Amino acid sequence: MRIDIITVLPELLESPFGASILKRAIENKLVEVHLHNLREYGKGNYRQVDDYQFGGGAGMVLMVEPIDTCITELKAEREYDEIIYMTPDGTSLNQGMANELSLKQNIIILCGHYKGVDQRIRDMHITKEISIGDYVLSGGELAAAVLADAVIRLLPGVLNDETSALTDTFQDNLLAPPVYTRPSEYKGMKVPEILLSGNTPKIEAWREQEAQKRTLEKRPDLFN
Ligand code: ADE
Repeated sequence: MRIDIITVLPELLESPFGASILKRAIENKLVEVHLHNLREYGKGNYRQVDDYQFGGGAGMVLMVEPIDTCITELKAEREYDEIIYMTPDGTSLNQGMANELSLKQNIIILCGHYKGVDQRIRDMHITKEISIGDYVLSGGELAAAVLADAVIRLLPGVLNDETSALTDTFQDNLLAPPVYTRPSEYKGMKVPEILLSGNTPKIEAWREQEAQKRTLEKRPDLFN
């Protein structure tokens, strides 16, 4: 998979891709992540990429031309399955969307800034608009990092234990059951006996039951 991210702040995205699982996925060539600094597509001495909005109102808008040029150049190189715009008015990200995107070959993620991007970019190029929740971030970069993380960890070979993404919370619309590690007793609190029994079918049944219980308590909406 290849992910191209268009941003005015590439430095904000360097650290999420420079550590831990995502770093290893890139090093092992399971995914390519390319950051494109929108500023390089701006014109004039100041390489302008934003301007005042027509009709008045506070806040700058990312201009149509630099983004169009960048996306057009990328599209000339290869076919993209999705061109995604990160925006608080997009569809809320969930595990199902991450699963679907993890099956794609090439995607572009466009990060908004200030008041957002000129609407014509959305009309011309964008195939999906995604929000990571009902709150407003300073820009789309952190949202893009969240989306990329949710997708990349699902790619074959990225997680050490191939099955571990399948047992994540949300994968079957259930929250994950409680987990424990050593010691088996701490300050008088004991790990449930069943987990120490070595009886795999019984442990699986217990986990399923706990997942149901936890979902009912914390997220009953997931049953709908
Ligand atoms: N940009 C600003 N806020 C955002 C959000 N909640 N989701 C996605 N992109 C955003």
